[in-house]
Amino acid sequence: MKPLRIALTKGRLEKDTVALLEKMGIDCTSVHHKGRQLILPIGDGQIEVVLAKAADVITYVEHGVCDLGVVGKDTIMENGSRFYEVLDLGFGRCRFALAGPKDQDFYQGFSEKTVASKYPNVTRAFFEGKAMDVKVIKIEGSVELAPLLGLSDAIVDIVETGSTLKENGLEVKEFVADISARLIVNIASMKLRKKEIESLAARMEAAIKETGKEEEK
Ligand code: PRP
Repeated sequence: MKPLRIALTKGRLEKDTVALLEKMGIDCTSVHHKGRQLILPIGDGQIEVVLAKAADVITYVEHGVCDLGVVGKDTIMENGSRFYEVLDLGFGRCRFALAGPKDQDFYQGFSEKTVASKYPNVTRAFFEGKAMDVKVIKIEGSVELAPLLGLSDAIVDIVETGSTLKENGLEVKEFVADISARLIVNIASMKLRKKEIESLAARMEAAIKETGKEEEK
């Protein structure tokens, strides 16, 4: 049987995902010593890890070249979900928020507002929910710059500790959604390799609960 292939989001979620796999008793030495290698066998070789950018994790899972993926709910909300979302992994917790310059009322006045975001679809959906027309400008990173430079009235972005906003004279105006890392599964893989995938997800869930109990102590 070929290995189950799981795409992991590089960067912020990587450490917590590897810690979870190790908690499940899966040896991840190859990931720790990966160098520039991108496909890494872990454990006894029954699982292969692929490290990718968040949006690419979704692309690989949707196309079925990876059976599973670990990706943030932010990326799922932005890209849609033509896959199963089976488990909230509990880490990578943060929030989507509408933020803008301190002491400035975003909703004041009648002129059309401009909002910058790395997540234009999430932003549009948020304002459609309010039946409010806004101009959305896509920014690739450090979105906080947009209102500082006068490009936008506000941003919709991820807030974790809140320090990026604070250090730049911005504040949360409104909560948009809660975010955390999710386990996603390709639709065909879920049919063809149901037992293996369900057992892996169950082991993950047990390890998450175990970690939660240890943290409570
Ligand atoms: C994210 C987000 C904020 C920051 C929030 O950016 O876009 O800029 O983290 O974190 P905080 O509330 O703890 O300050 P990221 O570091 O992923 O980089 P990017 O801005 O280049 O996309």
